[in-house]
Amino acid sequence: MPGLTLRLTIVGCGYVGMALACELQSHRTTTELTLTTTSEGRLEVLKPLAEQVQICSAQNPKQLYEALSEADVAVFCLGPKGDRQVDAGGYRQTFLDSLNCLKQLLPALPKLGQIVYTSSCSVYSDAAGDWVDETTPVQAHDDHSAVLLEAEDLLQNLAETPSKQVCILRLAALHGPGRDLDQRFRGLAGQNRAGDGQRFTNWVHVADAAGALRASIEKGWSGVVNVVNDEPIRLADLVDGALRRQGLAPIRWGGEAHQSGCNRRISNRRLKQRGYQLQHPAIVDQRGVLDASQVP
Ligand SMILES: NC(=O)c1ccc[n+]([C@@H]2O[C@H](COP(=O)([O-])OP(=O)(O)OC[C@H]3O[C@@H](n4cnc5c(N)ncnc54)[C@H](OP(=O)(O)O)[C@@H]3O)[C@@H](O)[C@H]2O)c1
Repeated sequence: MPGLTLRLTIVGCGYVGMALACELQSHRTTTELTLTTTSEGRLEVLKPLAEQVQICSAQNPKQLYEALSEADVAVFCLGPKGDRQVDAGGYRQTFLDSLNCLKQLLPALPKLGQIVYTSSCSVYSDAAGDWVDETTPVQAHDDHSAVLLEAEDLLQNLAETPSKQVCILRLAALHGPGRDLDQRFRGLAGQNRAGDGQRFTNWVHVADAAGALRASIEKGWSGVVNVVNDEPIRLADLVDGALRRQGLAPIRWGGEAHQSGCNRRISNRRLKQRGYQLQHPAIVDQRGVLDASQVP
């Protein structure tokens, strides 16, 4: 609506949260933006992107209230801190403790009309290579997915609160500047890997994650929407392609796969039905070359 300023808080400004902040800034939306960080050291990085930057751990009721008290929309782009893979307990702390804190605060946040949350396509279990979409029943297939599903359930129950919209975006694995796949796969050159590498992997460019987030806010989406590109790619095609391009030895696939990972192709039909046009429909172009925006 022209003239009306939307007050928006992004809780958790890592790779996705910062990409959304940049997206909003570059589209000159009439948004008054507040960003949060748990770390004093990141205040200076975030300041140019928003009207306010606040220290906030989402598990701290006082800090979360201060970050959200004036907000019309809250976007949660949380992820466990640090570079290392955390166990399910770390996931629980990051996602569930934070969303439980939000739940407790909701009665004191009457202005908050929409909550957007970045979940993950890793909630989908194995489908033997078949397509899955938002209507496919999901059940936990490991401890991490159990936490992610519990977080989604918690949020979906909040949607029953009158005048609060809840939108859950299930992001596929992210690629884009700073997440260079050639670099990521380099260490696998010439290694033996169990299985045949034929399972599908599902990706989305960070620009499309940010674009879909902006659309969800501007169009007031609710419900669950997958944010994934058009072309699931087999693991071997992706990794061996990246190694070949760098002149490195391919992986030697073979033997029984003990932990082959979930094999499913994730549909983006709903994302498109809602009018979103992907900027990066595939992770490789027609020549089989990794998306140029991979180059940092
Ligand atoms: N990355 C992927 O490939 C991927 C794939 C699928 C889904 N997703 C979804 O997208 C989310 C965001 O991903 P990302 O790549 O942007 O993660 P990220 O770069 O790790 O950023 C997450 C941010 O959350 C903040 N944070 C952590 N604990 C917090 C807390 N207790 N309270 C408030 N903020 C906290 C941290 O900010 P400070 O360090 O500044 O405090 C961190 O920068 C993921 O968690 C997942 O749900 C991501």
